[in-house]
Amino acid sequence: MNSFDWVSRQGGPLHGSVRIPGDKSISHRALMLSALADGASRIRGFLEGEDTRATAAVLAQLGVKIETPADGERLVHGVGLHGLRAATEPLDCGNAGTGMRLLAGLLAGQAFDSTLIGDASLSKRPMRRVTDPLGQMGARIDTQDGLPPLHVHGAQPLRGIRYALPVASAQVKSALLLAGLYAAGSTEIIEPHPTRDYTERMLAAFGWPITFSPGSAKLDGGHALRATDVDVPADFSSAAFFMVAASIVPGSELRLPAVGLNPRRTGLLQALRLMGADIRVENSRESGGEPVGDLLVRHAPLHGIELPEALVPDMIDEFPILFIAAAMASGRTVVRGAAELRVKESDRLASMATGLRALGARIEETLDGAIIDGGALGGGEVQTHMDHRIAMSFTVAGLVATAPVRVRDCSHVATSFPGYRELANACGFAIEPTVD
Ligand code: S3P
Repeated sequence: MNSFDWVSRQGGPLHGSVRIPGDKSISHRALMLSALADGASRIRGFLEGEDTRATAAVLAQLGVKIETPADGERLVHGVGLHGLRAATEPLDCGNAGTGMRLLAGLLAGQAFDSTLIGDASLSKRPMRRVTDPLGQMGARIDTQDGLPPLHVHGAQPLRGIRYALPVASAQVKSALLLAGLYAAGSTEIIEPHPTRDYTERMLAAFGWPITFSPGSAKLDGGHALRATDVDVPADFSSAAFFMVAASIVPGSELRLPAVGLNPRRTGLLQALRLMGADIRVENSRESGGEPVGDLLVRHAPLHGIELPEALVPDMIDEFPILFIAAAMASGRTVVRGAAELRVKESDRLASMATGLRALGARIEETLDGAIIDGGALGGGEVQTHMDHRIAMSFTVAGLVATAPVRVRDCSHVATSFPGYRELANACGFAIEPTVD
């Protein structure tokens, strides 16, 4: 038996209310800032995923006491800005690019050396985008030709810089801001397109003076972080699979409560509405300084679109599932300006094009996007390339395909969405582990 392959069969209509797990980006940041704060912070709605647990384990190796009073909750006993201590072993970030890149910035400001390692997928991801600007701040970080492992040298005096990011990346911005906490003078980041601003919002909530607006952020080193409780909303990127699934399966109506709706994350909502989706936001409110709302998704016939390039950074993790929507829509969908997808957990343009073609879809991969002519999907076998979002996207394909879809190696789903298969099946999917 190979329990990591899943077979997804035709199912639905989808009904019910689906409780989506906590936001991955916010969970990582909540752990890191709580660890560096003075006092104890409670994190509620914490994502119990492998990525965020890896970050918790790294912080524990660095001397931070983290308790788990309940599932989805952490009590972090902060050690203060200068209270971390050297780990004796390499720090394993698992599959998490966010973990490794943000920790690189944080560790650049410490008095001791650290080594950051990751799994086979993370070990192929580019790190110069963080190590180059951190180097300009005075950090010394060795890479393996630009790839992990990273060896971060300690006791390097850092100075603030003004840095214009060459690519829109919240991870790079956040790494520099975290290093900036330890730097002399101001650290200022200018983005080519605004990206998620969780680090900025959370630094402010923890009492660190920071000015930010869409596309820029600036802070000075040398202040302190005050322990603060954090309420983590449901992850929009995890909700996305259910948004598309309910949109494309006739007769479906799904409710997704308390989903984080930070405008830098909700590009897929706009894209799906442009395609004709029926998705309503109800009970809009604020929770823990973040906009949240309940999503009500009803089936609607979708049509292809030319995706506005301005939406790309606001839906950067949602392209795999957008491609499934496009393959089931009438007419053509064109995506441009999304070359960053090639350096995610897998090369997502290639992973999706190969997988969709295996299911009979018409998709042309371009250098920075794809052209998809919608229609029906058939059955077949697809590879996930150690990429959680590719895996979940193809389970949604199986829900509407004319024959079963076998999704090879779904083990990485647990990095961001523990319990996905059970939640999906409870509302009308038909996903089973294979027995060979
Ligand atoms: C993230 C930023 C994005 C996103 C990733 C999470 C973050 O990566 O794709 O899943 O938490 O800052 P990039 O910074 O590489 O765009």
